[in-house]
Amino acid sequence: MPRVEIHGYAIVSDNDCIADASGQMPAALRNEADWATFQAELNRSALTVLGRLGHEAHPNPKKRLRLVLSSSSAGLERRADAWWWNPARLAWAEAIRAVLPEGGRVAVPGGRQVFDLFLGIGYDAFHLTRAEGILVPDGIPVFSECRGGRSAEQVLSAAGLKPGERQVLDPAVPVTLTIWRRADGNR
Ligand SMILES: NC(=O)c1ccc[n+]([C@@H]2O[C@H](COP(=O)([O-])OP(=O)(O)OC[C@H]3O[C@@H](n4cnc5c(N)ncnc54)[C@H](OP(=O)(O)O)[C@@H]3O)[C@@H](O)[C@H]2O)c1
Repeated sequence: MPRVEIHGYAIVSDNDCIADASGQMPAALRNEADWATFQAELNRSALTVLGRLGHEAHPNPKKRLRLVLSSSSAGLERRADAWWWNPARLAWAEAIRAVLPEGGRVAVPGGRQVFDLFLGIGYDAFHLTRAEGILVPDGIPVFSECRGGRSAEQVLSAAGLKPGERQVLDPAVPVTLTIWRRADGNR
């Protein structure tokens, strides 16, 4: 089977949130250096996999290939704007074989349910950016398990990933990036 490499991307607060209590991304989690890094990563990817709300909220001027998760999909179909996929109706292995028959790098920018799903499928890497010193009270966590008091790092570690060096993307906040990679290298 052609090789597919799955990379997750999130910017989180100190309390592991990707969005506020109303489901919006707060200004404190929007950072130019992070955005530039993220866009460069998307340029390296063959496919972006995202939830329906993220797809609708973010236009796609570069016409990057997208796979949008939605319960409205009958399984997998090509619509004018993207591929649409319902994981309850078609397994990932079949969906990705149809969308990327030659394999390639897959970027997963969330949101939470999508991050949760790919914990089960298996990340090859997770690019965890932190806006340090920022708290988002009662926000939406990056992984559902964080609601039980586990940090994003504990969840990634339990998923078999190991952290690389902490890089400072923006010293002003600071905003830092740690890339967690699959430890076994077997995928
Ligand atoms: N800080 C960050 O790095 C980051 C990352 C991502 C998102 N966000 C922010 O987080 C906020 C919330 O995003 P979100 O999580 O609410 O929205 P989302 O993930 O973009 O979209 C959620 C929708 O995606 C579909 N979906 C997701 N998982 C599915 C599954 N397993 N099976 C079938 N359908 C699935 C469902 O669509 P249907 O209703 O059509 O079934 C669901 O309603 C937004 O403000 C966004 O900007 C922040």
